[in-house]
Amino acid sequence: MSKIETIGIVGAGQMGGGIAHVSALAGYKVLIYDVGAERIETGIATISGNMARQVASGKLEEQVRKDAMARISAAPDMAGLAGADLVIEAATEDEAVKRKIFAQLCPLLNPEAILATNTSSISITRLASTTDRPERFIGIHFMNPVPVMKLVELVRGIATDDRTFEASKGYVAQLDKTATVSEDFPAFIVNRILLPMINEAIYTLYEGVGSVEAIDTAMKLGANHPMGPLQLADFIGLDTCLSIMQVLHDGLSDSKYRPCPLLVKYVEAGWLGRKAGRGFYDYR
Ligand code: CAA
Repeated sequence: MSKIETIGIVGAGQMGGGIAHVSALAGYKVLIYDVGAERIETGIATISGNMARQVASGKLEEQVRKDAMARISAAPDMAGLAGADLVIEAATEDEAVKRKIFAQLCPLLNPEAILATNTSSISITRLASTTDRPERFIGIHFMNPVPVMKLVELVRGIATDDRTFEASKGYVAQLDKTATVSEDFPAFIVNRILLPMINEAIYTLYEGVGSVEAIDTAMKLGANHPMGPLQLADFIGLDTCLSIMQVLHDGLSDSKYRPCPLLVKYVEAGWLGRKAGRGFYDYR
């Protein structure tokens, strides 16, 4: 396998945009694809704004920002990702959506290219089995906000080969992030621990133990978390929180992972958190 020089990204939302941001700053050429030119433009504008924040706070030089932005280009269609050495899928946390993307994408890619998914919970082995390259398929799971969070989880599927794993490890090191290796079990390490905590916070609200503000203040000041669990749920997206809890519940067959009915209700209402303008807090 040749050196990784170009990163292809599927999905220009908060995760895909964040991955593009840190990859371009680390010197990679980045091709970013999403459904519709408007989404890609919005994604690239967000990256530019986030880098500008880093310049304003003295974390980045203006010239470094300019050079990094020049390394990011829009792929007007999936075929535009054909030149990538590593393609990272960062679409919705929905297995059917991801499978459809891989089915369209695989025939377009260089046979040697590595295909990675940023899934936060779904089985890497199962996703890999739907592609033409299970040995060159891996989970590279970033944390949100990607430019700030130091951790990346690397998850090998049963067929992932050593070259793919080593190349992915090298990519994470080049980003100046720390990789932890997780076995391929539902929700891996971070979300196996974090999401039941968030779900429990929602039960705490549902059962009237405390108000939204009381629960978040308690965990911020009582456990030194940077954000309260309900604010964090809004930040992650309540639809993503629900799908991770469903993966845990289905995959581990244990009632302790039952999604809180209030979480289900909020998602059904379209109250998906910050991105929807409303979740446990009102952002409108
Ligand atoms: N891009 C670049 N910089 C960003 C940024 C972004 N998207 N978001 C925040 N920042 C920077 C800010 O510019 C600021 O920089 P300075 O210190 O230089 O001013 C710094 O981060 C802190 O931001 P704020 O002052 O706005 O606010 P804050 O102090 O509350 O920090 C936070 C924000 C970093 C998000 C912090 O609240 C935090 O760490 N929250 C918890 C995040 C977390 O737990 N993430 C994991 C989510 S789970 C996950 O991602 C896994 C999954 O699969 C669901």
